[in-house]
Amino acid sequence: MVDQQPHDTVSKQMDVETDIITLTRFILQEQQKLAPNATGELSLLLNSMQFAFKFIAHNIRRAELVNLIGVSGTANSTGDVQKKLDVIGDEIFINAMKSSNNVKVLVSEEQEDLIIFDGSGKYAVCTDPIDGSSNIDAGVSVGTIFGIYKLREGSEGSINDVLRRGTEMVAAGYTMYGASAHLMLTTGNGVNGFTLDTQLGEFILTQPSLKIPYEKAIYSVNEGNSYYWPDYVKKYIEDLKKPQEKLKGKPYSARYVGSMVADIHRTLLYGGVFSYPADTKSKNGKLRILYECFPMAMLLEQAGGKAINDKGERILEILPKGIHDKSGIWLGSTGEIEKYITYIPK
Ligand code: AHG
Ligand code: MN
Ligand code: MN
Repeated sequence: MVDQQPHDTVSKQMDVETDIITLTRFILQEQQKLAPNATGELSLLLNSMQFAFKFIAHNIRRAELVNLIGVSGTANSTGDVQKKLDVIGDEIFINAMKSSNNVKVLVSEEQEDLIIFDGSGKYAVCTDPIDGSSNIDAGVSVGTIFGIYKLREGSEGSINDVLRRGTEMVAAGYTMYGASAHLMLTTGNGVNGFTLDTQLGEFILTQPSLKIPYEKAIYSVNEGNSYYWPDYVKKYIEDLKKPQEKLKGKPYSARYVGSMVADIHRTLLYGGVFSYPADTKSKNGKLRILYECFPMAMLLEQAGGKAINDKGERILEILPKGIHDKSGIWLGSTGEIEKYITYIPK
């Protein structure tokens, strides 16, 4: 006899979700909903990017087994010692962007100059291919950060396509490689989180329309640098360590992984404040504007949080002068960032 049960009843009984939203399906749906007349080039570009994420995730998973951990013997454009996975991640990302045929300009943390590809790509991509690489050998989460601009009107690809304010980005996000790979993406219409199902080989929508909590008593900063902080930053952090009335006398908790992606991932999900302030010695921050500060600032704002520099200016409105420019940064829950702002000298 033929089984008359509707399909969804059977799948419910077996506890199997049969209508999952993959990243590819999500991207196509968003395009139809928000830009029905779009050419689809950004969708194709995001599709090529997800291949890079899967490939990097695969290499990170097998790193310990095939001796990919450790230093490569080279240094990158900002003088950091490169790890083998920095080099491999960079190559994978460059190849994926080149073969997508949708990217004209690429800026990578690992490349001194920008790369201009042949072909008629309409987008410029900025990336930190492996963020948090000092953590790799210990098996701690690292990630890939990216920001995307559409080329300027009439441009055939130049540095001017990326030396622009963060407010001009059309998409941004990161993939964090940990126990599983998590992709957080914004195309300017909120933040959506995807988890890589390694058996299906697909990123699955797991955190739709993610919002950061308004406040949370967690601070995330490398306090080892505090000797070189300006006094008002020292005072702000010292005050967080005092008993908090709202928390019945408990002070803030400190959480610092040392991989920006991991610290931002936690901040997005739990709330709190993450900072890498400029120090009084170099008078500069450590994090790079185009491929660390801007993408994270866009994500945080799109999730309902805030992202500012040490002076309280909106990160996304900074105009970078060089592709590897740095900035002090504060980002996280709106309530926590507003609290920091009250400490900035007028
Ligand atoms: P990268 O590995 O791409 O050079 O980035 C490292 C960054 C960032 O991930 C992290 O927030 C910060 O450096 C940590 O710096 P400290 O070790 O100075 O705390
Ligand atoms: Mn980084
Ligand atoms: Mn890096």
